[in-house]
Amino acid sequence: MTDGKDAPRATENRSTTPASDTFRQYISSQWADRPHAEVPERPVAARAAERRARLSALYPGVRLVLPAGPAKQRSNDTDYPYRAHSAFAHLTGWGADTVAGSVLVLEPVGDGHAATLYFREGAGRDSDEFYANPEIGEFWTGPRPSLAEVASALGLATAGLDALDAVFALIGADLAVDPADGGAASTGVETLIVREADRALTDRLDGLRLLAGTTDGDIEVDPARDDELARDLSELRLVKDDWEIAELRRAVAATQQGFDDVIGDLPAIVAHPRGERLVEGTFNRRARAEGNTVGYDTIAASGPHACILHWTRNDGPVVPGDLILIDAGVELESYYTADITRTLPVSGTFTDVQRRVYEAVREAADAAFAIVKPGIRFREIHAAAMQVIAQKTAEWGLLPVSAEESLAPDAGYHRRYMVHGTSHHLGLDVHDCGQARREFYMDGIVEAGMVFTIEPGLYFQPDDLTVPEEYRGIGVRIEDNILVTADGAENLSAGIPRTADAVEAWMRSR
Ligand code: GLY
Ligand code: MN
Ligand code: MN
Repeated sequence: MTDGKDAPRATENRSTTPASDTFRQYISSQWADRPHAEVPERPVAARAAERRARLSALYPGVRLVLPAGPAKQRSNDTDYPYRAHSAFAHLTGWGADTVAGSVLVLEPVGDGHAATLYFREGAGRDSDEFYANPEIGEFWTGPRPSLAEVASALGLATAGLDALDAVFALIGADLAVDPADGGAASTGVETLIVREADRALTDRLDGLRLLAGTTDGDIEVDPARDDELARDLSELRLVKDDWEIAELRRAVAATQQGFDDVIGDLPAIVAHPRGERLVEGTFNRRARAEGNTVGYDTIAASGPHACILHWTRNDGPVVPGDLILIDAGVELESYYTADITRTLPVSGTFTDVQRRVYEAVREAADAAFAIVKPGIRFREIHAAAMQVIAQKTAEWGLLPVSAEESLAPDAGYHRRYMVHGTSHHLGLDVHDCGQARREFYMDGIVEAGMVFTIEPGLYFQPDDLTVPEEYRGIGVRIEDNILVTADGAENLSAGIPRTADAVEAWMRSR
């Protein structure tokens, strides 16, 4: 196997596990039978089956390998918290409790595909894995479910990970050149893989492809067809089903709780020299309590740090009189995540110039939201926000040209103060559907069931000589999560105060 099961372990040279037969026999004995509980099918199972059917229709006769991916090493013998690949999660419905290294295979059968989920099932007490393997042993990382339990929970055929060898044998046979047939590949069944999900499995497939392509092994593996699969998997997620939308609502609700917690903790946050870290800690505590974790590293950016778009070091103080920009989202056990930004006056009240900037950003967000409905183009949302950003920055005398001139395609002076885009799709990934083609994403038509952010901002760097002193060091972003409905849009995060007045009232209330 390629999953490292038999690889030497980093802890072996300091293992103190007794190796005597007496110990082995003793630790293998006297364990109670596991009660066999019926596992109900999860509500997501039916939706995942529909998603697999849509993928199946795109790839008739093609074998598809969709790995969850292995654990990723952080350093030495410690790994990052496990996270299955999003395409795998989408097509299986398996989320945070995925067994690392699992693989979904869609085997072409008749007009469609038969789906099998391969994973490492729980090991028996007659193996030494359960007490002696720190990476995957039950004593170390907890029990794993049985094949039957996962089959009932997800409504999928399951098989042990070792059975994947037979799949790769089939792939090899399909790729093998038949000399009797003038060198043509024998069966014509093509196999595609999500390349980025599991390096070792991808290498294994590429190895078979190389062998089949030439005897001297000097051809490049052309991953173009695999890339088409990645693209289609991204595009399959552009419109969310009702189950996904319900999950995103729950993620937003938990995120709202996290923001409330931060406001409640502000006295302690302001008192600490690294108050930004406390903001992160308070929000992330809620994310762990209500969900799986955060959907991305929390940005807690006080004062001029707000002008650093991906400020995640979060090691600065939170100073009364400044604004603090908090960009944070709770990811649920299903991996669906919110992505919300609020910018708060630390003292509870905006100064005049802070309020002016804040309300301009809020107007830009509202202008963008106002045009959202099925049938518009996605990029029009950004254009609507930019109209307001250009008008306001021109009004304040910041641009060397008029708003209209700045908005011309070959100009863009106002973009100095907002270099990022206004919207991205949201779902299993914070930047969801990232491999979708431009004609379906940026240039695509907005459809009911899409969920994306609207997140304009204005960022005046502390050393920006184009703006008056009073603007320097102010950074504001307001980010909401938007669901496209049959005839318009719903702001899923509208319950988290947005206007300057509502933000001040919110802070007073805590
Ligand atoms: N939190 C990253 C983003 O807003 O896109
Ligand atoms: Mn975002
Ligand atoms: Mn964000």
